[in-house]
Amino acid sequence: MRKLGTPAEMAAFRATAPSNVVLVPTMGALHAGHAALIDAARARAGTGGTVVVSIFVNPTQFGPTEDLTKYPRTMESDLEMCDAHGADAVFAPSADTMYPPGDSTFVDETGLSRGLCGAQRPGHFRGVCTVVAKLFNIIRPHAAVFGEKDYQQLAIIRRMARDLFFGLEIIGHPTVREADGLAMSSRNRYLTTDERRRAAAFPAALSAATRESDPAQIVGKATDMITAGTGAEPQYVELVDAETLAPLAALDHPAVLAAAVKIGETRLIDNVRLAPRHAKV
Ligand code: PAF
Repeated sequence: MRKLGTPAEMAAFRATAPSNVVLVPTMGALHAGHAALIDAARARAGTGGTVVVSIFVNPTQFGPTEDLTKYPRTMESDLEMCDAHGADAVFAPSADTMYPPGDSTFVDETGLSRGLCGAQRPGHFRGVCTVVAKLFNIIRPHAAVFGEKDYQQLAIIRRMARDLFFGLEIIGHPTVREADGLAMSSRNRYLTTDERRRAAAFPAALSAATRESDPAQIVGKATDMITAGTGAEPQYVELVDAETLAPLAALDHPAVLAAAVKIGETRLIDNVRLAPRHAKV
């Protein structure tokens, strides 16, 4: 496995790569959820294909009061995991490489990014779109794999790839969970033992709420159960159209129940899909 640090090194490697290049973009601090994304990329690339994992803690997607400086950095074990799961190359650039001095160009998706996490974290998805567009341009993959835990991010990247004619396949991978249901995340390591125990109530609440019959009851039940089980009021709980992310008044479209909660200092997000219950008239 090669470790590449600059767009020039990446381009030289890319020139030797066969046609089927699959990218897994990450910010490092890799866990079993990322391993599953790399496995999916390996399967999609096939034996003759090439899997590239990018590791870059992207400063532009962190707000001024967020955890950029303390975001976990575990490069050595990340490289071991990438190698063990069959990655052919890791692209791990510096911040100056990705954002050269005096840079003034950003990519802003202006529809899907307005609500949910976008409303709580101004500028976050602008940073995500900008860095992912840069990675697509540098690596020129045929496909890229993203986790469904970040459902809004996945929808926005699909939209950006379509709108800007990137001409690659965006693959969503199901959320990988701990035994008690908590979605795997690099930020889970911030949780204290007590917070980690309470965090298990978050996915359980979303799942239980899906048994309610209408959108208001679903959102109400999830909100109450998250608050009671985690000891923290959710930042948002919303039932939205799975494609447009617009709030749903009736369960007549494929839907997503999405939520965020801050337990102590750690912000967790999760979502669950719901099939339509009534035929559209
Ligand atoms: O999901 C992430 O880890 C990041 O938002 C991504 C897509 C790697 C962009 O920095």
